[in-house]
Amino acid sequence: MTRIIKGQTLSFTAEGTALHEQKGAVVVGDDGTILWSGPQPMLPHGFRQAEVDDHGAMIVMPGFIDAHIHFPQYRMLAAPGKDLLDWLTRFTFPEESRYADAAYAASAAEVFVDRLFQHGTTAALAFCSAHKTCADALFAAAHRHGMALITGKSMMDRHAIPAVQDTVESSVRDTEDLHSTWHGKGRLRHAVTPRFAVTSSEAQLTAAGELFRHLPGALMQTHLSESHGEIALVAKLFPDAKDYTDVYDRFGLLGERSLFAHGIHLSERECARLSEAGATIVHCPTSNTFLGSGLMSMPHLRKETRPVSIGIATDVGGGTSYSMLATLGEAYKVQILGGYKPTDVELLAMATRGNAERLRIDHETGAIEVGKFADLVVLDPHATPVLASRQELSSSLEDVLFSLMILGDDRAVSATYVAGRKVHERAG
Ligand code: GUN
Ligand code: ZN
Repeated sequence: MTRIIKGQTLSFTAEGTALHEQKGAVVVGDDGTILWSGPQPMLPHGFRQAEVDDHGAMIVMPGFIDAHIHFPQYRMLAAPGKDLLDWLTRFTFPEESRYADAAYAASAAEVFVDRLFQHGTTAALAFCSAHKTCADALFAAAHRHGMALITGKSMMDRHAIPAVQDTVESSVRDTEDLHSTWHGKGRLRHAVTPRFAVTSSEAQLTAAGELFRHLPGALMQTHLSESHGEIALVAKLFPDAKDYTDVYDRFGLLGERSLFAHGIHLSERECARLSEAGATIVHCPTSNTFLGSGLMSMPHLRKETRPVSIGIATDVGGGTSYSMLATLGEAYKVQILGGYKPTDVELLAMATRGNAERLRIDHETGAIEVGKFADLVVLDPHATPVLASRQELSSSLEDVLFSLMILGDDRAVSATYVAGRKVHERAG
C-alpha cells in the first residue's frame, strides 16, 4: 500500500548541498521505492487517500550508511587492547571464533541487524569472520529485512589463532560460493574480503586479487595503514613492497571498487596511487582514538593534485559506537585537532549519499529521490534533556544538525524505515 511519510525532510545533492523542506512529504509505493517527494501543500491529489506517518517537526532524512563495520564484533565494544595488534590477538580473534557455529551466527545476525536499525543505519559494508557460516547468517538476516547489505567472509590464512584461520583453497571456495549464492539477491552485494596484509600469505593475496578480478560486480574491502605497529609488521612481511599500499597494489587489489579502512599514516606516494586507482579510504574516527591508532587527516587525503575519495564508518567493535551521529561528532573532533573544521552538512552528506556512492549503491539509496528505496531515518532534535535545552539556542537548520551530530546517538533516532517499511520505532 502507498504510504506518506511526513516531517522536516532533508537530503543532500551530489555536490553536497542540503535540500530541506520544513513541512515535507515522501510518498512510498508498494515496492518500497519513492514515488514523490516535496512540500506537503504540493502533494498530488492521487496520493491523498494514502496511509500517513506524520513525524511533525522531526527530521526525515536518508538512513545512515556504515561503510565499515564488523558483524562478529557486535558485542565486543570497549575491549581494552594496548594497541591494534594486541586487541586483535587477545579479544577479537577469540570472539570471532564463535561464528563457526551456524546457530550462534544466525541469532547474532538478528541482533546485529536490529541494532543497526535502532541507530538509524539502513545499509552497510560489513566484515564477517573467516567462517562462511558467519557471512551466510548475515546475508540471510539482511535479506529478510530487505536491506542493502554488502559483506564477505574474511580471508585470513596466517598470524591468527587456528579457530579463525582458513586456507587459500577453502577461502577461494567459500568466497566463490558466497558470490554465487548471495550477490545480486534482493539488495545484497558481495565483497571480496582479505582481512589485512598481516593475516594473508602471498598465495592468499594472489587468490584474492584473482577473485576480485573475476567475480562480476564484487567490491573489495580490507584494512590499510591503521597503526604504526601494523605498518612496521607489514614492512617486515613484504620487504620488496614500496610501502603498505603497494602490497595490495601488487596483488591487483587497488581499483574503483576497493575500500580500505583507516588510511591514517599514508605517504604522498600512497595517496597519489590510491587517487589514481580511484580507491576509497574509510575514516573510522571512534576506532582510531579508542585503539590509539592516530588522527586521520581528511585534507591530507583530499589534496587537490591527488584527491582520494573518503567514506566514513563506525568500525564496531574497534569503534566505540554503532551510532553514525556519534561517529560524525567524533570525526569532527579528530579533524579539528588536525586543523580542519568540517561542517555538519559535509559530514551528514558523507554518511548518506557519499557512502552510497563509495559502496556503489547510490542508484538505490542514500538520498530522498524518486526511484530510490525509502531507506530513511527520523531524527528527534529534542530527544534528550540536553538536546532539548540546546535547541532553545538553535536559530538555523545548521545549528540543529550540528547539535545532533555532537550530542546525538540512538536516543535521537525516533524511527527507521527500510524500503518504506518501519523497522524501528523508539519506545516511549
Ligand atoms: N585490522 C585487521 N583486522 C581488524 C579489525 O578487526 N579491526 C580493526 N580496527 N583493524 C583491523
Ligand atoms: Zn575494521
